[in-house]
Amino acid sequence: MKIIEIHTPTQDSVISCETGCFLRHAPEFLAGHQNFVLTDSNVHALYGAQIAEVFADTPVYVLPAGEENKNRENLFAILQAMIDAGLHRNSYLFALGGGVVGDIGGLAAALYMRGIHCVQIPTTLLAQVDSSVGGKTAVDMGNVKNVVGAFYQPEAVLVDGTFLKTLPAREIRCGLGEIIKYGALNPLILDSLLENADRLFDLDYLSEIASDCIQHKSEVVQLDEREQNLRKSLNMGHTTAHALELNYGGLSHGEFVLIGMYYESKIAVAEGLATAEYAELLSGLILRVLGEVPRYAGLEKAAESARLDKKNAASDEVSMIVPAGYGVYAELKLPFEKYRDYLVRFAGK
Ligand code: NAD
Ligand code: GLY
Repeated sequence: MKIIEIHTPTQDSVISCETGCFLRHAPEFLAGHQNFVLTDSNVHALYGAQIAEVFADTPVYVLPAGEENKNRENLFAILQAMIDAGLHRNSYLFALGGGVVGDIGGLAAALYMRGIHCVQIPTTLLAQVDSSVGGKTAVDMGNVKNVVGAFYQPEAVLVDGTFLKTLPAREIRCGLGEIIKYGALNPLILDSLLENADRLFDLDYLSEIASDCIQHKSEVVQLDEREQNLRKSLNMGHTTAHALELNYGGLSHGEFVLIGMYYESKIAVAEGLATAEYAELLSGLILRVLGEVPRYAGLEKAAESARLDKKNAASDEVSMIVPAGYGVYAELKLPFEKYRDYLVRFAGK
C-alpha cells in the first residue's frame, strides 16, 4: 500500500492507494459514531451491496448522477438528511463516488456543524487522481461552475483501483486528461507516460501512475493549499478547456483538458515558450487518448469566455498555465485580442 500524507494548518490528510483498500479500511472509521454515506445513483446501482456490507446501518444518501445535480438544492437536501440522521461533531461523512459526489459531499461535511470528519472514496479515475485530493469542495450555481465552495481537507482518502473496472471508456479518457496534465508538470510522470504509451488504458498501469499523480498534487497542495501561487499550475490547459466546454459541450471535462493543453501548447510555441518538438511530444500522448482533436467554428464566443475566466487578473487579458519544457510549465498572460487570434488560428475550422 502506498500512503501519502498532506499536512495543512487545519488538517492532516492520509491518502491510501491500494487495490481493495475500500473494503479493508473503510470500517476502521465507523466505530462508535453516527455516520453518513453519500453516493450517486450509478455508483449505488453497481456497488450498493458492498456499501450495505461495509456500512451496515449507516444511512446512505443516493444523489441522482450527473453534474447538473451538484447544486445548492441538493446540498441543502443532503444537509437536512444529515440533521435527520442525528449526526454530531464526531460523525464521519463518506463521499463515495466521482468528483460530483466528492465536491458536494466535501462541502456538506465542511458546513455541517461548521465541519465534521470527511472520508473521500473516489470511484472515477478523475476523482482518484485529482478531485478527491486537496480539499477543494463546491457546488455550481446557475451556469457558474464551483462558484460556492470551501477549502476543506478530508481526513482520509481511500484510492481503490478496483472501482475502475466498471468505469466506461469515456470516464477513463476523462481521468487521462488530468494524468497527462500531471505529466506536463512533472518530468518523472512524463517519462512514465511516454514509456508506457501503449498501456494508457491498462487499469493496472493507471492505478500505478495515479499514485504518482496524487503524490505530485499532495506536494503542491501542502505548499500552497489556497492557490496563491504554485497550485495555479494544476490548472494547466484549463483556460481554453473551460472556454470550449462552456460553448461547445459534448465531451467530458478531462477530454476538454486534453484539447485545451493541445491548443495551449501551440500558443506556447508561437510565444517562444516551448519548442515545436516538445509540443509534438505532448500532442502525441493527447492523440493516443483522443484519436483526434476537434476544430471549431465561431471561436470568438469561446475566446470571450476565456476573457471572463476567474483566473484572469485584468479584464483585457487571458491568463493561462502552458507547457513550456519537459515537465515544466509557465504562466502566460496574453492581451485578449492576441489570445482570440491564436485560438481562431490553431483551433478554428
Ligand atoms: P462524476 O462524478 O459525474 O462521475 C462521472 C460518471 O461516472 C457519473 O455518471 C458517475 O455516476 C459514474 N461513476 C462513478 N464511479 C463509477 C464507477 N466506479 N463505475 C461506473 N460508473 C461510475 O464526474 P467526475 O469526472 O468523477 O468528476 C467531475 C466533477 O469533479 C466536476 O463536478 C468537477 O467540477 C469536479 N472536479 C473537482 C476537482 C477538485 O479539486 N475538487 C478537480 C477536478 C474536477
Ligand atoms: N484541480 C485543481 C486543484 O485541485 O487545484
